[in-house]
Amino acid sequence: MSNPIIRILGGESVKRPPIWMMRQAGRYLPEYRDVRAKAGGFVDLCLTPALAAEVTLQPVRRFPFDAAIIFSDILIVPHALGVKLWFEEGEGPRLEPVASQAALQAMRTELDRGITGRVYEAILKVRAELPNHTVLIGFCGAPWTVASYMVAGRGTPDQEPARQLAESNPVLFSEIIDRLVDATALHLVGQLEAGADLLQLFDTWAGVLDEQSFEAWCVKPSAEIVRRVRSAKPDAKIILFPKGISVANMQKIVAACGGDAISIDMHADRKAARAALASTCAIQGNLDPDILIKGGAALDRAVDEILADFRGIRHIFNLGHGIKPETPIENVERMIARVRGAK
Ligand code: CP3
Repeated sequence: MSNPIIRILGGESVKRPPIWMMRQAGRYLPEYRDVRAKAGGFVDLCLTPALAAEVTLQPVRRFPFDAAIIFSDILIVPHALGVKLWFEEGEGPRLEPVASQAALQAMRTELDRGITGRVYEAILKVRAELPNHTVLIGFCGAPWTVASYMVAGRGTPDQEPARQLAESNPVLFSEIIDRLVDATALHLVGQLEAGADLLQLFDTWAGVLDEQSFEAWCVKPSAEIVRRVRSAKPDAKIILFPKGISVANMQKIVAACGGDAISIDMHADRKAARAALASTCAIQGNLDPDILIKGGAALDRAVDEILADFRGIRHIFNLGHGIKPETPIENVERMIARVRGAK
């Protein structure tokens, strides 16, 4: 497949950086809001293959992105392990909390194919309709981030409940993490088998941990997942997104995992990241989603700075975190045109 993202992940340089956007299927698109309204709930949308495939394809029909990302959620994995999952409108995800040995025992030991199979069916449908030159990205949350929602039953400002449990009961917490390592590796392989071309591992909350906990709960589990995925699929290409960490920790996690690329957030120091990482892996990122909302000359300037800082290295243009619902569509068009026109 001659797709620039695959080429970059395989070690080649390309002239202009390829581009896609985290959360590119979502509420900033009117056609997404239409399908979302018909689906009923967010979880129903994720688990109805025809609808999940439709919203995955919407952004690549509208914009010339180099990748589609399968429409699903990182919390589908705990859901497939028997944890109840629902969304509170206007708030976010809710899970039946898993913060005790009893709750862990009540979980399934194997993924429910009745749930994961729907993701694979959506991937099959997308792959059948996606142009050949567009790659399809499969994904999972990394165990630390997924566990942090499971322990609290919801998102919190700094995932304090999970950090506390890891501190007060490391044995139980590591059992939760181990269960997620097993399930995540299998779900990533399942997505590749269904037709995903590459994978991204989202560790949104990596940045709230101290050095030792980062090593124990982010680096080790992620490295084990990559090892298992590659033992099943030796050519698997994997992008890591450990959000909010230092450049030194980026080096640590890339070295331990053997990631093909690291996605950096909008607060990362681009020049330091380039100096430390560009010879080892590709770099993805890192436009601030708030500047994408602003648009105009500020957006042009920010895009140009990113292009200049990463000129000559293996770079995939992306945001530093997901696009926000209030983003004007014309700003997305403007960003893509500027990246595509890059010299
Ligand atoms: O990127 C894509 O387009 C693919 C789909 C995708 C979604 N969530 C769809 C979604 C992906 C890759 C995710 C990952 C995800 N989900 C993460 C990691 C990345 C990140 O953004 O930090 C996390 C932490 C979650 C859990 C989650 N799902 C939260 C905290 C929320 C609420 C926040 C919000 O934006 O509303 C969701 C909901 C969610 N996941 C939406 C979408 C499009 C919005 C749902 C809606 O339509 O109301």
